[in-house]
Amino acid sequence: MAKQPKTEYPPSAEYLKRAHIDSYEKYKKAYDRSIKDPEGFWGELADELDWYSKGWDKVFHWDKKECRFTWFKGGKLNVSYNCLDRHVKNGLKNTAALIFEADEPDQSRTYTYAQLLYEVQRFANVLKSKGVKRGDRVAVYLPMIPELAICLLACARIGAIHSVVFSGFSTDSLYNRVVDCGARVLVTSDGGFRGGRHIDIKGKVNEMLERETDVETVIVVKRTGTDIVMEEDRDVWWDDEMAKASPVCPCEEMDAEDTLFLLYTSGSTGKPKGVVHTQAGYLLGAMLTFRHAFDYRPGDIYWCTADIGWITGHSYILYGPLAEGATTLMFEGVPNYPDNGRMWEIVEKWKVDVFYTAPTAIRMMRKTGDEWILKHDLTSLKVLGSVGEPIDPDVWRWYYEVVGGGRCPISDTYWQTETGSHIILPLPGAYPQKPGSAMKPFFGIEPTLINEDGSPTKTGEQGRLVLKKPWPSCARTVWNDHQMYRQTYWEVYPGYYFTGDGARMDEDGDIWITGRVDDVISVAGHRIGAAEVEAALISHKSVAEAAVVPIPDEIKGEAIYTFVTLKQGFEESEELVKELITHVRKEVGPIATPKTIQVVDELPKTRSGKIVRRILRKIAGGGDGKDLDTSALVDPNVIGALVKGRK
Ligand code: PRX
Repeated sequence: MAKQPKTEYPPSAEYLKRAHIDSYEKYKKAYDRSIKDPEGFWGELADELDWYSKGWDKVFHWDKKECRFTWFKGGKLNVSYNCLDRHVKNGLKNTAALIFEADEPDQSRTYTYAQLLYEVQRFANVLKSKGVKRGDRVAVYLPMIPELAICLLACARIGAIHSVVFSGFSTDSLYNRVVDCGARVLVTSDGGFRGGRHIDIKGKVNEMLERETDVETVIVVKRTGTDIVMEEDRDVWWDDEMAKASPVCPCEEMDAEDTLFLLYTSGSTGKPKGVVHTQAGYLLGAMLTFRHAFDYRPGDIYWCTADIGWITGHSYILYGPLAEGATTLMFEGVPNYPDNGRMWEIVEKWKVDVFYTAPTAIRMMRKTGDEWILKHDLTSLKVLGSVGEPIDPDVWRWYYEVVGGGRCPISDTYWQTETGSHIILPLPGAYPQKPGSAMKPFFGIEPTLINEDGSPTKTGEQGRLVLKKPWPSCARTVWNDHQMYRQTYWEVYPGYYFTGDGARMDEDGDIWITGRVDDVISVAGHRIGAAEVEAALISHKSVAEAAVVPIPDEIKGEAIYTFVTLKQGFEESEELVKELITHVRKEVGPIATPKTIQVVDELPKTRSGKIVRRILRKIAGGGDGKDLDTSALVDPNVIGALVKGRK
């Protein structure tokens, strides 16, 4: 008989030596207090940050009706001070803050805390010289190079609000984000390197700036040395400006509730939301979860493979690790360049202790073959992390056994752009882990599962994941659209924060995330709004209607399946399908590339004309259409043709 796989993985005695919380009882005691006495709990933890003044009246204030809340309002601090200056003062000046591992293996660079502070102060002065003041937005469109980290910390230092746009996004996506936040300064580069290839960046910026925006100054990092067009009076080189800048820049004293950054994310509507995070609550959340998720210990080398263009990079390459005084590794390249062993070569080279990546990457590594891993000495690894998508138990076990050598716990961290930091995750030393479960809530998080109608689910039943109250790092609003924030997060199930995810809770109270229940598709862990792809398709001259749904994908978790109807005068052809795919890539970016486009005569619709995506999802996923509830449809006969034409 086949052996049943193990379902529980306790931390080893060796691991417990590094664990900050080494028993379930300790976790439970702290957790219970965080729920019963949040103000006392977080009020004490606020001492983990350095403040100019702790002048808050109330640790937490919540105006439920307006969906507005504050943490530590009236307290004054600076995030860049907390990430840099205090460590330089406290004996870490010669400790590596940032290790940059370039696309080419022989071009790494390390910045100590003192060096990083030096660069950050200089760039803060560059921003000031361009007229950037407290509260101004700075758009950032940079590849994974150290200047990206320097730029964000410089913004934080002078109280400017950064808004990073992932460098893989298209011109149009960049344009929408830059215009929405009204940035007058944009920081970018001539290009980037990925897998030995040049990636165009400045060309896309130039194209974007042909349209009307508020951008007056573009600061350009020279990364590739490619020939690019620089616009006189608008574009300046990073190096030229840095050469003129003083290395002393005092920190702005920011209120705990001032905005630190915006980060746009996709939701159910066609318009990405500028999620707003503030100073103190965000930083405290990122720092503490970083410490606990990975049991970070001084001297560890920590590597998160995300891009700083996403929230994972903000919280767990930059702010969390640096607030903690950690050494964080930043990687410019890709896992298969110069060969499939690159990730492991990096782990071996830097003796990485903590490795944090996404299930898509883990599935790819598994497919590439164990031999690439076994070639390298990975014994420095102590703990592993997973983020961004559900990790299936099989893949979890492979990660545990082959990458972690059977000794490293895996922190399956569940959270979102809006939550700012991890909200459900296993504390690796506190209790045994179950492969595929994100396990238990972090301090201050009260998860509940409810049915679509708001009633509670039974143990083990799939429901919608909601959270009972705001926690310090929760997003405060959506830029310029508080109404959207209220409607999306706090008013779907009044009194609760709605995550948009489905989950179930088992008999031990452990949580298993099952994925989005709204029209958000997760391709390789990247959130893509179905509505955004639909809007891109409809903007093509040939498309009358479009409906976009997820289908399961072996490597990327989900892929994009698209149904379109064509306008009169257009006919289906291979060329047209190719053109539509190129069009989506141009409008949204390569991450939104549809895997399949099915041209249909009609879409399934309700009497009021609403497209029934639930049905399309089943058909795209391979259903034969026989078990579908078609009672809501005007014309149930459309189903047959949809099934027949499936690609
Ligand atoms: O669906 C959940 C999934 O990623 C979504 C959040 O995406 P984003 O805001 O881009 O942030 C990604 C990095 C945190 C969630 O709504 N998700 C994130 N982490 C997990 C996850 N799904 C399952 N397990 C996770 N550990």
